Amino acid sequence: MNILFVCLGNICRSPIAEGILKSKLKGKKFQYNIDSAGFESYHINESPDPRALKLAKEHGIDISQKKCRLFTVEDFDNFDIIYVMDASNYRDVQYFSRTEKDMDKVKYLLSEIDGRERSVPDPYYGTESGFENTYDLIEEACIKIADMLDKKYCKN
Ligand code: 4NP
Repeated sequence: MNILFVCLGNICRSPIAEGILKSKLKGKKFQYNIDSAGFESYHINESPDPRALKLAKEHGIDISQKKCRLFTVEDFDNFDIIYVMDASNYRDVQYFSRTEKDMDKVKYLLSEIDGRERSVPDPYYGTESGFENTYDLIEEACIKIADMLDKKYCKN
């Protein structure tokens, strides 16, 4: 199962989601590829935002090796599910899509929690407490995704 998380800058929300889901899937026997990408070119090839790095580290997750990259149309071919953080990301992915089948892969991350297409707030211009709220929401969704993958590929 190949899962891509996308957000605007690929330095806050989507790298956090990538790191959390990878940590939840560590040691699982099924094959997976988890990645993240963004739409803004300001931070290409940079590590995640220092506040995201710090918060992930406090939760025992090292995302320092992540390098920011842009979303590409090939991501529709390389991933089974593409999780967006908000409506602006949804529109950006839609702009790249070639077919309805491409868009069938796209879901709001928080819809995994309760089916509602809510946005993960962008913490970039906010405070550290904003980052914590963002982290908690992403973690809740990633727990659901890991459970879903466990059920799909049988417990192992
Ligand atoms: P992200 O947050 O989309 O969660 O990575 C942002 C990071 C950088 C910028 C905007 C949002 N920026 O404008 O540089």
